[in-house]
Amino acid sequence: MKFSLNIDHVAFLRNARAELQPDPIGYALMAEQYGVDGIVVHLREDRRHINERDLRLLRELINTKLDLEMAAVDEIIDIAIDVQPELATLVPERREELTTEGGLNVLDNIDLLKNTIDRLHSANIAVSLFIEPDLDIINASAELQTDFIEIHTGVYANAVSEDDIFDELERVRIAAKHAKKLGLGVNAGHGLNYQNIKEFINITDIDEVSIGQSVIARSVFVGVEKAVKDMIQLINQK
Ligand code: PXP
Repeated sequence: MKFSLNIDHVAFLRNARAELQPDPIGYALMAEQYGVDGIVVHLREDRRHINERDLRLLRELINTKLDLEMAAVDEIIDIAIDVQPELATLVPERREELTTEGGLNVLDNIDLLKNTIDRLHSANIAVSLFIEPDLDIINASAELQTDFIEIHTGVYANAVSEDDIFDELERVRIAAKHAKKLGLGVNAGHGLNYQNIKEFINITDIDEVSIGQSVIARSVFVGVEKAVKDMIQLINQK
């Protein structure tokens, strides 16, 4: 299982004051040295953390791969086509784009997503759809000819009782297997941390996890090197 690091929260800290520190680009370059397989950023329409300069600097400087999380809106699609990330992960930013649980509302946005995927594919950018672990949504995603799905793991991460944790892991496991059978690449993320990753790595149909907040938070206490390497070690235990 590969591990891409989402650095949005570094930019959040930087933007808390009109300062240049901490620098998300420096953080990304350090994380690459310590072994992450890719860097993820979400360029939001409101630019609340990562901005366009960050994105362009990352494109120039990182040596792994760039996964741009983005809404399916013209302004950001144009930027993606210009910047050329290796992967564009389409995520909801507005209520109507959300399922009740958190992933993209694919079934009600077929035409918009088809059009967006076609535009990104024409620019040779691979596409991932951030969705719930739901078989109907996965089938619809495959029909849209997305290259990857990213399974939303927020419900698993929020589960408290042993039964709920087991049920949610099963839901993700079945979804990942189904998506693989349909020929899709399978990523997963949201709310994964140093505890809940331990069971999660047993889901062998997942190609890559995208993790941000827990690693950035831990690095405040133990430094970037230890925070990143500890997570890599946990993921590599499978
Ligand atoms: N994947 C997607 C699509 C996300 O939007 C996020 C959150 O920005 C993550 C993964 C990472 O989530 P977390 O910061 O909780 O690890």
